[in-house]
Amino acid sequence: MGGNWKMNLDRAGAVKLASATREALGSITSAVDVVLFPSFTLIEPVATALAGSAMAVGAQDCSAEALGAFTGQVSCDMVKEAGATWCVIGHSERRHGLAESDDLVGEKVLRALGSGMKIVLCVGETKQEREAGHAHQVNVRQLRSALVDVTEEHMAHVVVAYEPVWAIGTGLSASPQDAQDAHHQLRRELASLYNAPLGDSVRIVYGGSLNPANASTLCALPDVDGGLVGGASLKVPDFLAVCAAAAARTAANLAH
Ligand code: 13P
Repeated sequence: MGGNWKMNLDRAGAVKLASATREALGSITSAVDVVLFPSFTLIEPVATALAGSAMAVGAQDCSAEALGAFTGQVSCDMVKEAGATWCVIGHSERRHGLAESDDLVGEKVLRALGSGMKIVLCVGETKQEREAGHAHQVNVRQLRSALVDVTEEHMAHVVVAYEPVWAIGTGLSASPQDAQDAHHQLRRELASLYNAPLGDSVRIVYGGSLNPANASTLCALPDVDGGLVGGASLKVPDFLAVCAAAAARTAANLAH
């Protein structure tokens, strides 16, 4: 379960939220991997606030370059030094808001994995693409191009996030059927790109208006392994409820 804080909070607010989230989640973090993704400048204080817990910290993006004359970019080594072990790559707010191409996303994926980071690779179609009947095609294209040259070994460090663009920040989540279909398609694609066991084992999480009201249903779907949460991760009770839904899913899996 990832909490993508996006461009929110100041330093004091981030430390307060990280500490309160840590305290609220308590033993849930032994059943669910939880990662908080604050802005670059907040990674270090959040990492300090979470030190000694099972929770991890990630960056919301990274440069495709290792170092050098790239004004305004932040490298994997820099975010790692600040305490990040994870990185979100290919979020729609970068693909669509900043025109990041499939190729650039693929370069960032290779850079982050080569730097020893774990990644959350985001894919997802726009409203127009869905209405035109191209949702699966777009998701598969984004997945394939992001994973060019990614080895099977590196796939152990990849979580895929299905985030339909029209569901992000709109209060309108994907229906259980649409989410399950999209995740299943992505899993089949992973199986065909690599092999069936890998397709089964890669975690595919859902993002887009995930909240306490829909988390239980969405997290219980066969091919949904968790979530990437935006707005609800800024409110401790809401994030707790969403993480508890994921923990219930883990418990149900173990019972089988
Ligand atoms: P919301 O949960 O606010 O819709 O954001 C989802 C998201 O973009 C997570 O990366």
